[in-house]
Amino acid sequence: MEMSYNFTKVIFSFLTIIALAQSAPTPSPPQASNTNTNTNYIRNKCRTATYSKLCYQTLYPYASFVQTSNLNLCNAAVTVAIQGVRSANKTIFNFANQKGLSKMDMAALRDCKSDMRDAVSELKKTNSALKRLKGRDRQFQWANAKTYGSAAESDIESCRDGFAEKKKISAVGLNIRSSLLLVEQRISNALYLINHLY
Ligand SMILES: *[C@@H]1O[C@H](CO)[C@@H](O)[C@H](O)[C@H]1NC(C)=O
Repeated sequence: MEMSYNFTKVIFSFLTIIALAQSAPTPSPPQASNTNTNTNYIRNKCRTATYSKLCYQTLYPYASFVQTSNLNLCNAAVTVAIQGVRSANKTIFNFANQKGLSKMDMAALRDCKSDMRDAVSELKKTNSALKRLKGRDRQFQWANAKTYGSAAESDIESCRDGFAEKKKISAVGLNIRSSLLLVEQRISNALYLINHLY
């Protein structure tokens, strides 16, 4: 008896909720519509990027930080690139700790460790330059941001090339190269957004 009463009550409140939802078109809360504006902004900016889908996928979580600021979007893109490098770095260190690596793989992994360190440092410099764009030397800082970003891209390439010179690439090499591909695409997107800042 008790159970059936509760059950009726639940059904009744459920129907009430449905009825209310249908009768009153609830305005979306300001937070939600604001977020929509911001994610649409990111979608538009990413539309023409080389890796457009990746651009949006990696950047929309930053919508509330980005708002509709070109500069914030660039900062977020560089941050996302740094995270990509750090995750590739983890993969590289994990492989480097494996036993039974070939001499060539060991050497390539060793070079990659410093390439990853350099790439993170260049990307941090990129973000610092972007933060100085509001000053009088804007053109200079903008050029710096592009230069540092490109340098980070070269660091990633140089790690990748360490595995490319061999006739037959190892399983380790294949793994590293595929994890670097996404990192390069993140950096490339960041550079695209920086190039189109103004
Ligand atoms: C790469 O990973 C190692 C090991 O976790 C860490 O010590 C090093 O600081 C990392 N380097 C970068 C650039 O994140």
